[in-house]
Amino acid sequence: MAVILYLSIAILSIILLVLFDYVKNFQFYKDGDKLPGPKAYPIIGNAHIFLGMDGNAAYDKLIELSEQYDSPFRVWMGNQYYVGIYESGQMKTILTSPKTTAKASIYDFLRPWLGNSLVLAPVPMWRVHRKIIQPAFNPQTLRKFVHIFDKHSKSIVKRMEEELDGGEFEVRSYLGSYALSVALEASMGLTETFDPKISADYGECADRAFKLITKRGFTPLLHPDKIFNLTKMAKDVYRCIEVMHSISHSIIAKKKNELEKHDELKNDEIENKRKGFLDILLNLQDKQKLSDQQICDEVNFMVVAAYDTVSASLQYVLLMLASYPDVQEKVYQELKHIYGEVIPENILFASDDLKEMRYTERVIQESLRLFPPIGFLLRKVEEDLEVGGYILPKGCTTYLAIAKVHRDEKYWPDPLKFDPDRFLPEEVAKRDAYCFLPFSGGPRNCLGHLYGMMEMKTLVARILLEYVLKKKHVQPIENIRQRMEVVSHPIEPIKIEIVRRLPKT
Ligand code: HEM
Repeated sequence: MAVILYLSIAILSIILLVLFDYVKNFQFYKDGDKLPGPKAYPIIGNAHIFLGMDGNAAYDKLIELSEQYDSPFRVWMGNQYYVGIYESGQMKTILTSPKTTAKASIYDFLRPWLGNSLVLAPVPMWRVHRKIIQPAFNPQTLRKFVHIFDKHSKSIVKRMEEELDGGEFEVRSYLGSYALSVALEASMGLTETFDPKISADYGECADRAFKLITKRGFTPLLHPDKIFNLTKMAKDVYRCIEVMHSISHSIIAKKKNELEKHDELKNDEIENKRKGFLDILLNLQDKQKLSDQQICDEVNFMVVAAYDTVSASLQYVLLMLASYPDVQEKVYQELKHIYGEVIPENILFASDDLKEMRYTERVIQESLRLFPPIGFLLRKVEEDLEVGGYILPKGCTTYLAIAKVHRDEKYWPDPLKFDPDRFLPEEVAKRDAYCFLPFSGGPRNCLGHLYGMMEMKTLVARILLEYVLKKKHVQPIENIRQRMEVVSHPIEPIKIEIVRRLPKT
């Protein structure tokens, strides 16, 4: 009897809360319903569409919705109002308007991991920190990193030798290890080599944390911390975060130790030397402008930003090169054009060489178009904003479907064709800038854009100097499916075959 009474009180309270919420936010709900979108139900909105979905299914569902409804369209997740956008002009409005600079509240699920780092920071804090960190990514600073990209690309290519003539192998671990070693040395300025087991642990934990956090995002019941923290999933997420945090703490400790040894921290010249971003942060800490916690947050984000996006992107680049031998040959011919008919052993790449690798750059861009590692971006609307003839009310969240706009026939004729020449300057000039957004756009775009491109070009060039990449059964692009886990990865692990490039001419 008592149970029935408690249950009735609980149900009545929920109904009253929903009614109260509806009356309070009447205008908000009314505006939301003006946009096209799937039929929404009281309380749950459209949440049932995503019920129990993992990253694979959610990725497909979000694309499917954007194929059914014109941009902008709406989706209700419970009482959360989301607006899907995949039209280039509308994307530009969102990415450049000061009304939508803030990140969506759903990103808060990443906060125990990434704190108030640049990617999650509230707008006033983000403005200050972006200004502080930006110099670590300017082209002059990046020029000095090329020998680091080069050094680690050589060691990865050497490690790949064990796969020679051994049939197809999974590329992910090699690429993850490259991206992580580069991040530790270039961004963090650590000269000490990390145990490969640490990079494997880091990679495993990052993958798992992203997977579970994405799942939480699509399960409104798990949104309140109080409920989520009771679950096994939460324990798993916090365990992964703990492993990654302990790696970041050891990075900071090692760096402080190195700096103490060289007594460089107190040297004001450090700013002029324009070192890696951790040097800049520690120097600011010395001047008491940043707390220990802020430094940890930035390091946590920078390591994962550099690790996961770069390794995910490189997987597809290698797959495309292996699948399209004519494209691969053109990249190799470009290297011969830069280094001469007989490419010397042990050449060192320089920053100017990377600039010359224009075709290689187009190959990477085309791969990023078809397989953007960040397929969806979410921004909070902080003041009413007009987009595509509709008013998006303060409080709603926009999700920009980059994965959709990158394959939209309106911008990309024959969109599923792998064609690097879409990125010839004359072709780029014909297109709207905001239909190609692998690095986002506007003032809150990716700070590591240039760094990431240089890092990827170096590895691609180094691999092609040594090996020919092969793929026995080339899959059509539409069959290479992705799962969404903040950073998107292929559902099927990417495998290629390598044979020695002989003779080296
Ligand atoms: C292929 C490689 C990469 C891709 C595709 C990529 C993509 C992105 C995207 C889409 C964003 C915007 C995220 C959002 O608005 O929610 C972003 C932000 C950011 N990325 Fe990257 N990224 C890459 C590599 C890197 C690297 C190597 C670094 C640093 C070493 C880096 C540092 C950052 C930072 C600091 C931000 C936050 C910017 C801000 O909020 O002001 N990224 N990245």
